[in-house]
Order: sequence, then structure tokens, then C-alpha cells
Amino acid sequence: MIVDGIPVPGTPAPGQCLRTWLRGAGRTAVKKGCDAGDCGACSVLLDGTPVHSCVTPAARAVGHEVTTAAGLADGEQLSPVQRRFVEAGAFQCGFCTAGWVVTATALAGEDGRVDVPEPDAAFKGNLCRCTGYRSIRDALAGRTNTRPTGEGAFGRSIGAPAGERLVRGCEPFTLDLPETDVLHLKLLRSPHAHARIRRIDTAACEALPGVRLVLTHHDVPQTRYSTARHDSRLDDPDDMRMLDDVVRFRRQRVAAVVADTVALAELGVSLIEVDYEVLPAVLDPEEARAPGAPLVHGDKDAGVARIAEPERNVVAASHGEVGDVAAGLAGAAYKVSGTWRTARVTHAALETHGARGWLDEDGRLVVRTSTQVPFLVRDELAHVLGLDRDRVRVTTARVGGGFGGKQEMLVEDVVALAVLRLAERGTPAPVQLELTREEQFTSVPCRHPMRVEVELGADADGVLTAMRLDVLSDTGAYGNHAAGVLFHGCHESVALYRCANKRVDAEAVYTHQVPSGAFRGYGLGQVIFAIESALDELARKAGLSPAEVRRRNVVVPGDDFVVNAPASGDLVFGSYGLDQCLDLVERHLAETRDLPAAQPPAGEDWRVGEGMAAAMIATIPPRGHHADAAVTRFPDGSVEVAVGSAEFGNGTATVHVQIVAEELHVDPRLVRLRSGDTDAATHDTGAYGSTGSVVAGMAVAEAARSVREQLAAGADPTRPVVGRGEHHGTPRSVAFNVHGVRVAVSPATGELRVLTSVQAVDAGVVINPEQLRGQVEGGVAQGLGSALYEEIVLRDGEVTTASLRDYRVPQIADVPHTEVLFADTYDRLGPRGAKSMSEAPYNPVAPAVANAVRDALGVRPDELPMSRDRLWRLAQTISPSTEEDA
Ligand code: FES
Ligand code: FES
Repeated sequence: MIVDGIPVPGTPAPGQCLRTWLRGAGRTAVKKGCDAGDCGACSVLLDGTPVHSCVTPAARAVGHEVTTAAGLADGEQLSPVQRRFVEAGAFQCGFCTAGWVVTATALAGEDGRVDVPEPDAAFKGNLCRCTGYRSIRDALAGRTNTRPTGEGAFGRSIGAPAGERLVRGCEPFTLDLPETDVLHLKLLRSPHAHARIRRIDTAACEALPGVRLVLTHHDVPQTRYSTARHDSRLDDPDDMRMLDDVVRFRRQRVAAVVADTVALAELGVSLIEVDYEVLPAVLDPEEARAPGAPLVHGDKDAGVARIAEPERNVVAASHGEVGDVAAGLAGAAYKVSGTWRTARVTHAALETHGARGWLDEDGRLVVRTSTQVPFLVRDELAHVLGLDRDRVRVTTARVGGGFGGKQEMLVEDVVALAVLRLAERGTPAPVQLELTREEQFTSVPCRHPMRVEVELGADADGVLTAMRLDVLSDTGAYGNHAAGVLFHGCHESVALYRCANKRVDAEAVYTHQVPSGAFRGYGLGQVIFAIESALDELARKAGLSPAEVRRRNVVVPGDDFVVNAPASGDLVFGSYGLDQCLDLVERHLAETRDLPAAQPPAGEDWRVGEGMAAAMIATIPPRGHHADAAVTRFPDGSVEVAVGSAEFGNGTATVHVQIVAEELHVDPRLVRLRSGDTDAATHDTGAYGSTGSVVAGMAVAEAARSVREQLAAGADPTRPVVGRGEHHGTPRSVAFNVHGVRVAVSPATGELRVLTSVQAVDAGVVINPEQLRGQVEGGVAQGLGSALYEEIVLRDGEVTTASLRDYRVPQIADVPHTEVLFADTYDRLGPRGAKSMSEAPYNPVAPAVANAVRDALGVRPDELPMSRDRLWRLAQTISPSTEEDA
């Protein structure tokens, strides 16, 4: 095989695919996103034709030319397509980028532009979960979005430091390491939703040549913990063991097999015999609290495990009232009530969870893993394995997408234990576990499905007199993030509105289903869907526009952030741009209303409607979020930044470089980062809750300022000057998003088309406009996916949508253009006036679409996703009176 112009010897194994052959030969520009021909991360050119190497037999390529992204450049000179992708800033995490570049190369002209009749069809084999595709379209069309670096780069769209490496496919991700001498771990998983293991026989597996280690519940620490990671481990219940003798959802881990190859480990897994005592399971969250329901964690002590009421399957709860809701409803001129439901949704980060562990020359445990929270993973590994914290090092490379899903410890624990056990036996070896896409769907935590009941009352002016919420969240088999998601989901969604009388009753319950966990928006998207839908209905009754009903009711500086108890805590208005966001979206919808592009296609009975929804989010999670950073200015003028947070497409690497360049008045090209390594900084809670810009950003800014002050005070510039900074995540500010859409719905087919999409964001001072725009577009694309079709479907606890093909994340053809508008504010609590803004854009999208559907059809959708079949059924309920209402 000729790979990137170089003959590569070797014979593929029978049945081996080209992807694994290429990676085995060290060609790590070829990624794995699905191994099923669905995502394009593994794209290569085979004699000039783009193919998915994961579904191409390696034998077919023998004697032929294979080109990966790494073979496209001419030495230092990027290929025209690679240059277009860099100039357009057409990536976030960049895990998909090499595949896109390869496919585009096959279709591009000499100038790197792709000008084909149906570009959406040409690229349907390449997915991107981060960008929302606009910047990729720009790259294909040859548009430039990034600006050259230089002094004064703050506030400008400079490109990501890793850009050139990403388009060449040479930026290392977690498992882009040589594959020699590494052992592979595979997991046996439960076929039952609830069962006790009576007997487990591993003899045949252990006898298989090449199997090096087998772990069952007999071999793991007794320590209970949670996969969720927070700064305080007490935020989540200690309700799981690494391998347990009771399984609580289908596909839960049962045993681990470590072998010389992936295939041998899989064969070993198939040889383990397990005798299960099948137990009754509860799959419905509504039934889980009923007397007599099977208990998911009935064996736990509530206080020890930190479970609210294990005897009712309730892991976390919040009940409370301010004012008098009954009186507020009794005196209301207008009332609205309803129940809204949301679905299980998966992150679908293109890089699956994976980790490799080994012992370093000092016998210290090292785990390289795809995580958003390396420090928190280190701390929990030390806790679970009974090690001193300084005997564990956790590092990340670039993370291939996270969206909250990598705020869990899902693979590192079992990899670390295998490394330690092998060393104890005198056979030390690196061990690697890489989840398959199917495992991502069937065993990795997803978004909490919720049922949200809302009752609103308002006076004759449409001013709220009462808000009542009843929330039921399904956390699945384990309580990772259950409390955090429940409380956060109910917090800023309810606190957004000033109302004297509020009541919230919220409970998160266990079921014998795949666990739920952290996901972009952290519960807000689900609750906002219900509240913003109810408020829209209230506006209709009161005769107010969507923007006006919000203007009359949203919090303004001086208000408290009240949910269901008197306000407390450290959340304050560091700035306020919600009024601007409402104006911007209202104006954009009005100005585009008559444009040709905002009209439905001809030839069908399309109903057109507009909708809007608002969202607020705290810029930092509560109860502590810490980061420290060190900045070193070297005599040659270069600067090194050591900071704990990882880069996973959220753009913090670029932002940190820009902050340092601004503080020290240097060219960003002189600034290099050391990040995502527990040896590089003292602590970093991690990049979640959009804190990479604000918490780690404040620490970086303080460290850089210290360097500047030392130099101003006469520090010797011919020696390295080191500054340190830290930030503890308090006080916290608020950021705002308002989304507006215009949709066309066909009652005859249930088809929905987005005609106009606009989101206004209040992110304070915008550090990098192009990057922020990309974060918003990516969040909107994910929001549209879960609004319209994304759903993990379970039957008897078994996930039936276990591939990207069956689940369907938005493809390039599915995502409409979104106009992104920025409010003009300066946040007194953020780095140089900036606020966080990467998870929030998701939150108002689904209710804005639902409100537009209501406007179009006269009947309201109350369940996500608003799939085509559901919209068709909804359209069948249109009556003459609803026609008039529409
Ligand atoms: Fe080949 Fe996804 S890994 S198409
Ligand atoms: Fe495309 Fe992350 S940038 S998947």
C-alpha cells in the first residue's frame, strides 16, 4: 500500500478494515467516530476517491494509493483546502476536521474552493457535532473568517493555535499514540435491566492465549463513588462500584478483560459465563416513586450514599415556595397550565470515551484520557484506588468534543485498576480502553429526560402573579449529576422571571435505564422548554407580543434571583444585556419577515409561524470552581502559560492566549500553552459550565498581570519572569440568550422547515467574535437536533437507536443559517469584561421552535423531539377555532 506517497509494507489481517490497518501503521490522521460508515472521521482518499476507511476492507487498498489528511500538504505548505479550513476557522474540537479536509480535497478546484452542484449531498458522509457547519460551508466556499495575529489581538477573530495541526491531522488526540506494546481492555456488559450475579465463571476466558487479566466484582475496590465529577465529590451520590454484583441497567459493566489485541479481548469477553438472578425492574419514572415499585438502590443507606429517599427511588429533591402561589393564581386575570416532556439525547461527541494508563519510571500511575476534568479524575482515582493524590497523574491531549459528557469518569477507573493489577502480578504494561459508538449510545450517560408541569398566572397587564412548577427528572440507574442538573435546571429558568409567588417541587428519580448525566445546558434546556412555552401561551391570552411579555416580567439589575426560597448565594448582575437581546431578535424577525428567503417553498400548504424564547445562565456553577495558572515570560520574549483546563472545542486555548497577549502586549504567536495536565498547575476544577473563559481565564489574566507588574517594577527581563494567578469562581454573574425562529410546517406531511433563525447573546466583551459565533451556531445546531428529531429510544430498557444512523445527529443539509447577534455589555466580574458563552446557546432553541409551531398551526407541541410524525399527529388536531388562533 502507498500511504501518503510512502510504500508501507505489511499484510492486512483477514477481514481487517482499512482504518485499523492505517492506525496500526501509525497513521493517526485517520480517526474513529463510529466504525460504521456514518461519520466520516476516518475518511481517506483511495486512488483519489474519498472513502470511509472503517468500512473499506484493507485488502482492497493493497497495491493502491491511500491519502490521509497528513499527506495533503507540500511540506510546510498547506494544501489549498487545508488553508481554506484554517482561514475560515472551520473547526472547534477538530476531531472531524481531517475527514472533512480529505473529502473536500476530492471535490475542490485548484484554489481549494468546492463548487459542486449539491454540496450538502456531497458531504452527507461527514458529520460535525461542534460547529453547526456554517464555518465549514465558509471553508468550502473559500470565505475567510479569521484574521492574522499581531499585537492588539484581543477582541479580534484570531485563529486557534492548533489550526494548522488539525487540518494536517497531526494534532494528537487522546489515543493518537503508538499501538505497540499496549494491552486492550474490553467490557462484558449486562443483558438484563436488573439482576444479581449469582456466579461468574472466567476460567475459559483466562485460559485463552493472549488474555492477560480478567476483573470481576470480586477483584475491585469496595469503595462506592459516582461517575460524575464536581469540585466537591459530595455533590453526587456514592451509589456505584467499579464492577458490582448487582446490575441496574442493560449494558452495565459486568467484567473487564485485558488482552493483547482488541479482538482477543472481545473473544475473551464472549467466553465469560454469568449466572444471573433476574430481578424486577422499574423503567418508568412516573412509576418509580409508587409504593411497591422495585427499588434501584434500596440496599443503600441514604446518609452514607447521599441519596434523598432510596425507599422511594428519589435521589434528589427540592420543594419550596415563596409568597402565596394559591393566592397569586386565584387573583390572576390570565392562567395557563400544561405538561411538557423532553427526551433522552446523547452528546455524540465524535471522539468516543477512551483512556490509556501506565506506570511511569517512578512507578506513578499515569492516565491519559479524554476528559474535561483531569484534576477531578485524578482526585477520584486516588480516592477509589486508595492512592496518594501525588501518586496519580492525569493528562489530556486535545479532547474530541465533550458537551458535558466528559465531566464523567467512565473509563479511567477500570483502566487504572488494570494497570495496577498487572504491575502487582509482575507483568506491568500500558492498558487502553476505547468505547465503541454502540457503547456510547447504550452505556454512557445522556441528557436527563424530564416531565415538567407548569402553571402560570398573570394580571390584566400580563405581569406574572404566580409560577408553579412540578418537575420529574429521570436519572436512570445511577445518580451522577442528578442533583446538580435538577437544581440548575430549575434555577436560572425560574429565577429569570420576577414574580412574588413561586412554588417549585422537583424530584430526580432512579429507574433501571441507562444513566443520565451532564449535558450542555445542564437541565436548563428541559425546564426552559416548558416555562417558555407556557409564557408564550400566556402572552397570547394577554394579547402581548413574545418580546413584550418577557420585557414585563424578566429580572432586571436590583432584583434577586429567586426560585422557591429566599435568594441566597453569590449570583449577581455583573452586567445586563437581556433587554438588548430581546430588542435584537424582535427587530431581526421583523426586518426579515418579507424577504424572499424567509418564505416557505411553493407548491404545498405550508403554515408559517414565528417564535421566541429567552434564557439566563450563571457564568460559573455554584459552590466553588477553582483554577490557578502560571505565566512565564522568557528572555526571548516568548511566553508560556500553564493552566489546568483542557481544550475540547470550547475555544479556551485561543481565549487564554488572547488574554495573555493583551495583558503583556505581545503577539499571540509568542504565547504557548501547557494545559490539561495535573502536573502543569496546582488545581483546575475543569472546563464545564463554560468556565474555561471566566474562571481559568481570570486566573490566566491575573498571572499575566503579575508578570507585567514585575517587569514594570524592574524585574530582570534577561531572566524568566513568572507570575501566578488564581480564581475561585465567586461572585458569579449572569449571561443571556434570546432565540427567534420563523418556521414553515406542512400539516399534510408534518415536515418543518426553519426559514429564519436568529440568536442574540449577552456574552459581555467578545474576546473572539468568530469563535463565539461558532459556539452559538454549534449550540443552536444541537438545539435544533433535540428539538426536531434526536432521541434515544429504549424498549424494555434496551437502547434501540444504538448507531449514528439510527439516532441521527444533524448533517450539513439539516442545519439552517443562524444569524448571531451580540449585545454590547461589559461584565465587571469577567476577564476584561467577558462572560462565558458556550453551553447556553442550546437552551432557548427548542421552546422558540415550539412557539413558532404553535404560531403556525394554532396548536401547541408539548413533547420533544417535535419529530415529523408527532407534528403530523398534532396537525390532525387542528380545528376551525385553532385555525383562527394561528
Ligand atoms: Fe468511519 Fe465513522 S469512523 S465513518
Ligand atoms: Fe467537528 Fe468537533 S469540530 S466534531
